Amino acid sequence: MAGSPALVRLEKTQRRDLWWLEVVPIWILMGGFTVYAFWRGAYEGDFYSWGPYLSPFYSPLIDPQHHWWHWSPAILILAGPLSFRATCYYYRKALYRAFLFDPPACAVSERPGNYGGETRFPFILQNLHRYALYLAFIFLCFLWYDAIRAFWFPGNGYVLTPHLVAGQEGIASLSTGTQFGIGLGSLMMLTNVILLSLYTFSCHSLRHLIGGKLDCFSCALAGGARHSAWKLSSYLNDRHMLFAWASLISVGLTDFYIRLVATGAIRDLRLL
Ligand code: FES
Repeated sequence: MAGSPALVRLEKTQRRDLWWLEVVPIWILMGGFTVYAFWRGAYEGDFYSWGPYLSPFYSPLIDPQHHWWHWSPAILILAGPLSFRATCYYYRKALYRAFLFDPPACAVSERPGNYGGETRFPFILQNLHRYALYLAFIFLCFLWYDAIRAFWFPGNGYVLTPHLVAGQEGIASLSTGTQFGIGLGSLMMLTNVILLSLYTFSCHSLRHLIGGKLDCFSCALAGGARHSAWKLSSYLNDRHMLFAWASLISVGLTDFYIRLVATGAIRDLRLL
């Protein structure tokens, strides 16, 4: 195929398999998610909650009444999840291949130009991944809280609360309450936070912190416990790519479901 010098150079490979097929799902998934997340989080800025459900794009929810922040509340928290995903070791490989062609696949020639690696701006910022991991733990706490809360629905109308004032009988006031229930949204939010936890706990940086940097477990403080934790972290780490994509898809689907319910396009499917 004739083309520009850059394209001709990109094609240089002795591979005869369909190596380019590997990057197509990344274009579709990451491209689609980025467009959707930008539209939902930064542009639309609405329909992010319904009943006990809160979209993961908006958690924790800050200034929803727009007292001092006039744009979408999702923008205020964007830096946390974005920095974690953008600096992830797995996503670096996937994105460098799919979007920068640097290189597009193993044994396929890369873009022309000097390879600077992650030694120069902006890619040198990738080295902050460990700090993004600490931030991710904070976000996980909020998301677990949201997932548990998603099982507590506003009561059917009002819950009667006896409020007896001295000398006065009967029910003097009504107050709102919650009751346990299970909706499809509850299960989606729970699945979402489990997948996000698996993605976070399978992180390469975490595995390194737990024990990857040790030469000798038995010589280290709490070596036995660290060895067990490291083995678990290694097991999860082997599946990091799977958790990365599964959690990304689940964040998008959970938000989409909550939006559908919040706009009235569908009714929440209540199982209990
Ligand atoms: Fe992917 Fe840390 S390496 S989240």
